Amino acid sequence: MPERYAVIGNPIAHSKSPLIHAEFARQTGQDLEYGRILGDPEDFPGEVRRFLAEGGLGLNVTVPFKERAWALADEHSPRAETAGAVNTLIRLTDGRLRGDNTDGVGLVRDLADNHGFGFQGARVLLLGAGGASRGVLLPLLETGLARLRIANRTASRALDLARLGAPLGPVEGSGLEALAGERFDLIINATSSGLTDEVPDIPDDCLAEGGWTYDMLYGDRPTAFRRWGQEHGAARALDGLGMLVEQAAESFWLWRGVRPSTAPVIEQLRHPAGLGSRSV
Ligand SMILES: NC(=O)c1ccc[n+]([C@@H]2O[C@H](COP(=O)([O-])OP(=O)(O)OC[C@H]3O[C@@H](n4cnc5c(N)ncnc54)[C@H](OP(=O)(O)O)[C@@H]3O)[C@@H](O)[C@H]2O)c1
Repeated sequence: MPERYAVIGNPIAHSKSPLIHAEFARQTGQDLEYGRILGDPEDFPGEVRRFLAEGGLGLNVTVPFKERAWALADEHSPRAETAGAVNTLIRLTDGRLRGDNTDGVGLVRDLADNHGFGFQGARVLLLGAGGASRGVLLPLLETGLARLRIANRTASRALDLARLGAPLGPVEGSGLEALAGERFDLIINATSSGLTDEVPDIPDDCLAEGGWTYDMLYGDRPTAFRRWGQEHGAARALDGLGMLVEQAAESFWLWRGVRPSTAPVIEQLRHPAGLGSRSV
């Protein structure tokens, strides 16, 4: 009998996680089944408990349930503790539930390992102060970067998040208007502005010469912030597809103790024709 995992969120139909985990399982020879659950906002804890009672071993959690998954977990990894949000639930052998957050390590691996960005000594700007920014805060601060600026449309949220990170590394917060005259080697867009094809209102010249941009959003066409990077001379203007696959690989490793190869899966998602009749 295959062992059971799933992703829970609302909406969920668009999720690429079932496809990614099916590829990981095929590649590593793991006998598992990975489904998708349309979460009921009224009964998220009940749905998680039912899945586990039916033999489920782990869940990925996506919008809008990451904070509620954190509250549901009996224990947390340090990175989930800092994030206050959980994207991976693991059923422990004693039946308790462990919450982890693999988004940050996914982002850092995509940038550093897949694309060769050098974090050591870098000036990094993180745009946004919502769940995605919280999720990546600790792993970013552990990269050896020189400084991390969190800038948000609502400045107070950036200041709060920076206060949370301050004991862990060189981080400061501000509003977007305070970016005038500043330069960064890497700008990461963790806002949801791209969902309406917009970019945060940042100065045209805040990307340093040779700097990179990274949009956590991804899509079939270049995202608005990826286009912003291309138009503003970024040496590399990346989107978040690699982060998606890398955070999934880390969840897979937490559940199964096996590390899948991510490069072929990123390639397949980037060029879905390679997937034959499967849709992504
Ligand atoms: N690639 C991946 O694996 C991955 C993983 C996680 C998340 N993500 C992506 O990350 C993005 C953010 O997710 P989230 O969960 O953090 O969302 P969230 O909690 O709703 O936060 C949204 C953030 O975006 C800001 N924002 C929204 N519209 C804006 C605009 N027009 N201009 C400037 N700022 C704007 C908000 O600022 P205010 O505080 O001022 O409202 C807030 O900081 C989403 O696009 C999500 O798909 C990708």
